[in-house]
Amino acid sequence: ALLIILGICSICSAQITFNVIKSVEYTVCNETLVIPCFATNVETKQLAELYVKWKFKGKDIFIFDGSRNQSTPSSNFTSAEITPEELLRGIASLKMKKKDAVPGNYTCEVTELSREGETTIQLKYRVVSWFFQKENILIIIFPILAILLFWGQFGVLILNSKSSRMNQETISVLVAGLFLTMVVIVGAILFAPGEYSTKNASGLGLIVIPMVILQVLQYFVFKTSFEMNYFAIAILILQVLGFVLAVVGFSLCVSECVPVQGPLLISGLGIIALAELLGLVYMKFVENKIKTIVFSNNK
Ligand SMILES: *[C@@H]1O[C@H](CO)[C@@H](O)[C@H](O)[C@H]1NC(C)=O
Ligand SMILES: *[C@@H]1O[C@H](CO)[C@@H](O)[C@H](O)[C@H]1NC(C)=O
Ligand SMILES: *[C@@H]1O[C@H](CO)[C@@H](O)[C@H](O)[C@H]1NC(C)=O
Repeated sequence: ALLIILGICSICSAQITFNVIKSVEYTVCNETLVIPCFATNVETKQLAELYVKWKFKGKDIFIFDGSRNQSTPSSNFTSAEITPEELLRGIASLKMKKKDAVPGNYTCEVTELSREGETTIQLKYRVVSWFFQKENILIIIFPILAILLFWGQFGVLILNSKSSRMNQETISVLVAGLFLTMVVIVGAILFAPGEYSTKNASGLGLIVIPMVILQVLQYFVFKTSFEMNYFAIAILILQVLGFVLAVVGFSLCVSECVPVQGPLLISGLGIIALAELLGLVYMKFVENKIKTIVFSNNK
C-alpha cells in the first residue's frame, strides 16, 4: 500500500503546475490579444518534448506539437499562435487577432513527455466608450450651443429688419444655417457615446468639419447687420482659431481608439461657442445700428 501511495504521489508531483490567472479582459481597442498561460515547472530544454493544446468550449482550437515543431490553429481561430521559444520557459500564452476572439473559458493544456497539466482562463469583453463620458457631453454640447447662439444672432437680425422681404443674403444664411443644424444633429446621433467605430468617428467628423459653415455664417451675419469693425473682426479671428484647434484635435483623435487629444478638440469647440456668444452679445449691443442698416439695405 505504501508503494502505491508513493507511486501516486510521484505522479501528482510530476504534474505541470501553473501560475493561475482567473481572467483577462479585452476591449474594442485590443488589436491582438494574449490569453496568458504560465507553466511553472517545465524542465526540458527540448521543444520536441513539449506539446500544447488550447481548448474553447470543449473543442480543440489550437495545437502546438513540439516533436514536429508545428502549430495547428482550428478554422475559427486562424490567427491563433504561441511563441515556441517562450514555451521552453513555460510560457504557452495564446495570441490571436481580435476578430477571432470570443469571450469565454479557454483551457491551456501543457504536456512535457509524460507530465501534463491544465489551467483555465476566462476571456472577458469590456465595453469602453471612445471618449470619456464628460468629453462626450462637451463634444455634443458646445457645437449645439454654438448653433443655437447662431440662430439667436439670426433672430436679432430678422427682428430688427423692418422689411417683410428677406434679401438674398439673409435667405442664403437661413438655408446654410438649416443645413448646418441638420448635419450636426446627424453627426451627434452617429457619434452618440459608444465604442470606437467608423460610425462614431464619422459622426464626430460631421460635428466638427461643418463648423466651418458657422465661420462663414458669422461673417455674413456681421456683414449684413453692420459695418465691420475691430471688435467684429476679433470675434471672427477667435472663431477661426477655435475651428483650427477643433480640426487639429479631431485629426489627432479620429484614428485613435484611445484618444488623448480630446481636450484640444473640446477647447476648439468651446472657443467656437464662445465666439458665437460674443457675437450675439455684440449684436444685441449694437441693435439700434442694425435696424437702420438692414432697413436701408432692403430698400
Ligand atoms: C488588452 O489591452 C490592454 C491594454 O493594452 C492590456 O492590458 C490587456 O492585457 C489586453 N487584453 C488582452 C486579453 O490581451
Ligand atoms: C520551429 O519552426 C520555426 C518556424 O516555423 C523556426 O523558426 C524554429 O527555429 C523551429 N524550431 C526548431 C527547434 O526547429
Ligand atoms: C466555428 O464557428 C461556428 C459559428 O460561429 C460554430 O458553429 C462552430 O462550431 C465553430 N467551430 C469550432 C471548431 O469551434
